[in-house]
Amino acid sequence: MVQAFGGKREFTSLMNVGLLIAGVAGLILAAPWGLADGAEPNYAKIGVKLVILLIIGALIGIGLSKQRKSGSVAPALFWLVGILTVVNAGIALLW
Ligand code: HEM
Repeated sequence: MVQAFGGKREFTSLMNVGLLIAGVAGLILAAPWGLADGAEPNYAKIGVKLVILLIIGALIGIGLSKQRKSGSVAPALFWLVGILTVVNAGIALLW
């Protein structure tokens, strides 16, 4: 958000930290703690979120290396990461 609205619309390594936290927190939430007998987590939903997380990580990696080489990053790549992050939050709330 800071980069999108006020920053240079570039990727930063802080985003990798955020991604790691989201991944670890997601996996902890995905463990079947305290579920009633027979209940199961929604593994399809969790799998989709995990795949989206990996795509976000790949895009940030590609973006960081392009920035290093050319000094800037394509707006489409930058915004795609933000959109996919909102999609992951949306999946948690709406699916
Ligand atoms: C950019 C990455 C992610 C974002 C922004 C995100 C966002 C969120 C949000 C906002 C919630 C709260 C939903 C609620 O209060 O009901 C949530 C819950 C959850 N997330 Fe994520 N998430 C991300 C990645 C992941 C990943 C990678 C996994 C699994 C591998 C995951 C698994 C879960 C699970 C299991 C819950 C609890 C759902 C429930 O209690 O019904 N998340 N996530």
